[in-house]
Amino acid sequence: MTESTVAGATDVAVLNDLPARTLTRPELRELVSAIADDPAVWQQHVAYDDEHRHYVCLHRDANVDVWVLCWTPSNDTGWHDHDVSSGAVAVADGEVTEHNLVIGSAALEVRVPAGHSFSFGPDHIHRMTGVAEGSVSIHAYSPPLWRMGQYAISTTGVLRRTSVSYADELRPIDEPFPDDQERLRDAALHP
Ligand SMILES: [Fe+2]
Repeated sequence: MTESTVAGATDVAVLNDLPARTLTRPELRELVSAIADDPAVWQQHVAYDDEHRHYVCLHRDANVDVWVLCWTPSNDTGWHDHDVSSGAVAVADGEVTEHNLVIGSAALEVRVPAGHSFSFGPDHIHRMTGVAEGSVSIHAYSPPLWRMGQYAISTTGVLRRTSVSYADELRPIDEPFPDDQERLRDAALHP
């Protein structure tokens, strides 16, 4: 992460007129689409980094947080969930890919170009990667992100969840766990 502070006081109409409650998925999608359509809101926060994804919090209150995320083709969130939050993503510039985990076969990949959006509930597990250089997406979550689940798939295919803070940079952690071989041996000894 190269920047995480909430951007200065907002004068964005759509952010000053939010309901004082948890937002629905359609409301989140409408919110991110409105912001994506207004480059004056997010353009000054755009920067790119192949090593550490660049993102800035545009707004955070008790009910919703809104972020601008910048993507290069090297950027990858790894598999994650959003704990109790629903969310929506609108691509403002370029193109990103949303990956959906499928047990036993290759992940489903959906390319999302500028001008398109999607939403998801707390049950959703996904991974996002940049496609085009210079891509930008707007994300909103309600309730606001606090904890998230980051998933690792070991070399033996075992899936594990790690709870991380919303302030941590999500990144792939698909590395072998040191105790995998031990677990396999134990399973063989004690079927
Ligand atoms: Fe996500």
